[in-house]
Amino acid sequence: MRRRDFMMTIAGGLAVSELAGLCSAAPDQSPPTAQHKEPQMYTLTKLPYAFDALEPYIDARTVEIHHTKHQQTYVDKVNAAIKDYPQLQGLPINDLIADLDRVPEAIRTTVRNNGGGVANHELYFAMMRPGKQENRPIGKLAAAIDSQFGGFDQFQQKFSAAAVAQFGSGWGWLSLDKQGKLAIETTPGHDTPVMFGRKPVLVVDVWEHAYYLKHQWRRADSIADWWHLINWDFAERNFAG
Ligand SMILES: [Fe+2]
Repeated sequence: MRRRDFMMTIAGGLAVSELAGLCSAAPDQSPPTAQHKEPQMYTLTKLPYAFDALEPYIDARTVEIHHTKHQQTYVDKVNAAIKDYPQLQGLPINDLIADLDRVPEAIRTTVRNNGGGVANHELYFAMMRPGKQENRPIGKLAAAIDSQFGGFDQFQQKFSAAAVAQFGSGWGWLSLDKQGKLAIETTPGHDTPVMFGRKPVLVVDVWEHAYYLKHQWRRADSIADWWHLINWDFAERNFAG
């Protein structure tokens, strides 16, 4: 089975930590040769569903362009950035962006923007599934949300308000810190809680390219639709795994 087909088969059932290793460059299994060693580059992960699987909440054309054009561009640009830096090749994408200080200054901003773009889109697409009218968290995550935010409805309201208020392009997150505390946060550009030592549990893309064809300027409506698409099994594994 080709690596891409394998990733398509299983990506829908993996948590963040598992996904990071799979969606990034895999260890080189080929025997070493004296003449030539292939650089280990990132690839575009296949979606765990069809382009139209998220209808009517996200239209098929938006999913297709978002994945095959925007995400592909981030993959291409981060690969181009690390092309001449073999010490950075072969790392899981979250490892590459978690410690930007070790990335040479000449390519640090490019890696931050485009490596973040790769990591965030892999997570965003993997964390959705065909929509449900009633779609609520489960298990330990549901209990933690109740405990820390006073219930799912209050959490949903706070999360949506934060994501809507993010100025310009960025991302809305539920993240987990090293003390096990959940927090709602937003990041600009393609920054991620991973860059600040926190673990993503839930993510929504609030760049206009994520919703403009269907929702135009109505970011709040796009987020209201996104709640129907969350794969809460995936989020639960992010939290409890
Ligand atoms: Fe995006």
